[in-house]
Amino acid sequence: MSFKNILLEIEDKLAYITINRPKKLNALNKETIAELHEAFAEANSDENIRAIILTGSGDKAFVAGADISEFADFDVSQGSKLAKQGQEILFDFIENLSTPVIAAINGFALGGGLELAMACHFRVASDNAKMGLPEVSLGVIPGYGGTQRLPQLVGKGKAMEMIMTAGMITAEDAKNNGLVNHVVTQEELVSLCEKLATKISYNSGTAISAAIKAVNANFKDGINGFDVEIKQFGKCFGTEDFEEGTTAFLEKRKPKF
Ligand code: COA
Repeated sequence: MSFKNILLEIEDKLAYITINRPKKLNALNKETIAELHEAFAEANSDENIRAIILTGSGDKAFVAGADISEFADFDVSQGSKLAKQGQEILFDFIENLSTPVIAAINGFALGGGLELAMACHFRVASDNAKMGLPEVSLGVIPGYGGTQRLPQLVGKGKAMEMIMTAGMITAEDAKNNGLVNHVVTQEELVSLCEKLATKISYNSGTAISAAIKAVNANFKDGINGFDVEIKQFGKCFGTEDFEEGTTAFLEKRKPKF
């Protein structure tokens, strides 16, 4: 499949998805969101792919937000539809993917860009990265899950401050607040993500996908995460990976997943 606004590259067990609109600081227009959905769906359906690394092209931005030029003249119903469709086809879709997704934040991650990074399973940033949810400076609020996922990651008080001030925080501040897990130089960013992805790839893909479901259940309204954990834990016992993992341990060899 070929795309206009993004790149999808597959190398061995890893997929790399790069948002490729550097002149617009990789802002997310409708077409880019649709292409990202396709690329994530394609990578997720390939059993050989064990992790996906998402980044932005150029050295300035991961994603500088939703494309403001596309929604500046929207009315109430178009605004609601924009948020609903975006959440369904991209943000919730990534969060619930069975393949782990790592965001490599290589520069500005603002508005929809930070929301996109927060929908990924975890985040690594380069030391030049700047993160924020500036929507209230435009007279709107975050609409791609930002009001929900930012408090989950940094706590309610810090999220309120970031959203109300519309300010940007540094990569180091983001790390200190649990928004990103690691900060490295821009040169080291993708290689650290590859190291983490490779470490993930040695483990059971079916168990990892069960773990994603169980962890995500903690953040879903009306769902008992402990019940989901019990169900997913039980299901693992019926998998080839469980047989291989336990047999390999008892035979004192490395498992082949
Ligand atoms: N939507 C649409 N276009 C965007 C964009 C966005 N969210 N963010 C950047 N761009 C475009 C700019 O309009 C500009 O296009 P042009 O060259 O055709 O005029 C280009 O990307 C480069 O951006 P520019 O503002 O010139 O770069 P800068 O280095 O001066 O500033 C930012 C960088 C990130 C501080 C600034 O672009 C910005 O504030 N962007 C909007 C951030 C935002 O509010 N995001 C939330 C949206 S809901």
